[in-house]
Amino acid sequence: MLIRDYQSNDFPQIEALWIDTGIFMVERGDTPRIIERCNDMGGKFLVMEDPETGNIVATSWLTWDGRRILLHHFAISPPFQNQGYGRTLALESLAFARERGYSVKLEVSPDNLPAIQLYRSLGFELLGDFDVYMLKYPS
Ligand SMILES: CC(C)(COP(=O)(O)OP(=O)(O)OC[C@H]1O[C@@H](n2cnc3c(N)ncnc32)[C@H](O)[C@@H]1OP(=O)(O)O)[C@@H](O)C(=O)NCCC(=O)NCCS
Repeated sequence: MLIRDYQSNDFPQIEALWIDTGIFMVERGDTPRIIERCNDMGGKFLVMEDPETGNIVATSWLTWDGRRILLHHFAISPPFQNQGYGRTLALESLAFARERGYSVKLEVSPDNLPAIQLYRSLGFELLGDFDVYMLKYPS
């Protein structure tokens, strides 16, 4: 598998992958413009491509807020799960943060055991002290 940076014409495949893996939500409003803006601000969007078909089989989106990296939209296409690709892509993603000396934060549903197992095995620890709040439409 090839791990490479996002290109703007990847987006239709990426959106299909997010739908297939259950992480797509319309209200998140993620668009190519937002990906490009986050990259311009110092983030990185990695895709994993099957070299035989040219299809995108995984995504990892690292955004930078000036303090930390947030890792999100981490997903492996269902036919490619449980074959070590998630670990490979996660390690490549964490290398980006390590090279820059940034810590990495992520959110995961407490019932998503495969993802929790993966993150824990990579050294992530539960902060646990906080619930996550969001104001979707500031008025
Ligand atoms: C979570 C996810 C990214 C894991 O990717 P993957 O390619 O299947 O994972 P890997 O094959 O690289 O396995 C890496 C580790 O993940 C954990 N893992 C993967 N599948 C698992 C499962 N079904 N049950 C428990 N642990 C699992 C294990 O710790 C595994 O390490 P091990 O093989 O040494 O035990 C993948 O299942 C996925 O895309 N899920 C849907 C989208 C999603 O929920 N993303 C996370 C949002 S926070």
